Amino acid sequence: MARIIDIAEHKEEALSAASAVLGDGHPVAIPTETVYGLAADATNPAAITRIYETKGRPQFNPLICHMADLAMAERYAVFDPLSRALAQAFWPGPLTLVLPLKPESGIHALATAGLDTVGIRIPKGFAGDLIRAFDRPLAAPSANTSGKISATSAAHVDDDLGGKIRLILDAGASKVGVESTIVKVENGELTLLRPGGLAAAEIERVAGKRLRRQKKASAAIEAPGMLASHYAPGAAVRLDASTIAAGEAAILFGPRDIEGMEKAAMRLNLSPAGDLTEAAANLFDYMKKADASGAATIAFAPIPDEGLGEAINDRLRRAAAPRE
Ligand code: TXA
Ligand code: MG
Repeated sequence: MARIIDIAEHKEEALSAASAVLGDGHPVAIPTETVYGLAADATNPAAITRIYETKGRPQFNPLICHMADLAMAERYAVFDPLSRALAQAFWPGPLTLVLPLKPESGIHALATAGLDTVGIRIPKGFAGDLIRAFDRPLAAPSANTSGKISATSAAHVDDDLGGKIRLILDAGASKVGVESTIVKVENGELTLLRPGGLAAAEIERVAGKRLRRQKKASAAIEAPGMLASHYAPGAAVRLDASTIAAGEAAILFGPRDIEGMEKAAMRLNLSPAGDLTEAAANLFDYMKKADASGAATIAFAPIPDEGLGEAINDRLRRAAAPRE
């Protein structure tokens, strides 16, 4: 069983215990502001392999490499004025930049899936302190079984992976609640690879240019595994519901009522005030609660596709996608 350390009370112990497990080539579940990550030494192939084994991930996808700060990131990736401007504006925070990998950087090819680029993110809070102490980049996908709902609390991680890992660091509920926004920077162009916890419009404001959006087909090549069924609860998922059928679990958004919602087996509201930031923070936790209710179907009210709504709708489409 995993040991769980509350970092608010035992920060130093958490740092030293985590550094020991990481140094031993094993993964540790760590809090970040987006979701909990299953982190391992990005320079150690055995450690990276253990991430895949623990998650039951069928194929090797490129993993995001987490750094302590921009100076550390510059040791591993090539920045240009545009990527540096985005890094300065948004790091630490929920933005991942895909950048050219420096040759001989030390990041193992298993973390980049053999690509000549690397996805880099600087997380807020304790994770940054841990990386600074460990002084190596940490590869970290979300801390959940492959294809399942991402973990936004230590309890989520423990329920799912507690039997398979040594250590979980607990910092309470993740503030942002959806994974980072991934942007590729190449030849002065920005391409949105995954909408996430930083709204695309904010990136465009700082960059002074539009993000290119990927066509579905090329997205599959750029980010293997991203289009398959993902974030899947056990229940079926129905989107853009305008009525609720008897016995469904209803997940609402905003102050408006939906026809038939009094017949729902369970009713949750992502944000009664209609705030997309609050809705993102509640998304995965409410999906898990609705799933645990035993309802055969979870019906979601429509969510506006602006701001963080783009990331929420992306995750919902994948939760609703046909299962393998
Ligand atoms: O918020 C987050 O980003 C969380 C927390 C733990 O930091 N991490 C996360 O990692 O979501 P993960 O492994 O689930 O996301 C990895 C995705 C890949 O599926 C791929 O889409 C993209 O990041 N990626 C990473 N490196 C890439 C690269 N070199 N080229 C293109 N895409 C890359
Ligand atoms: Mg994930």
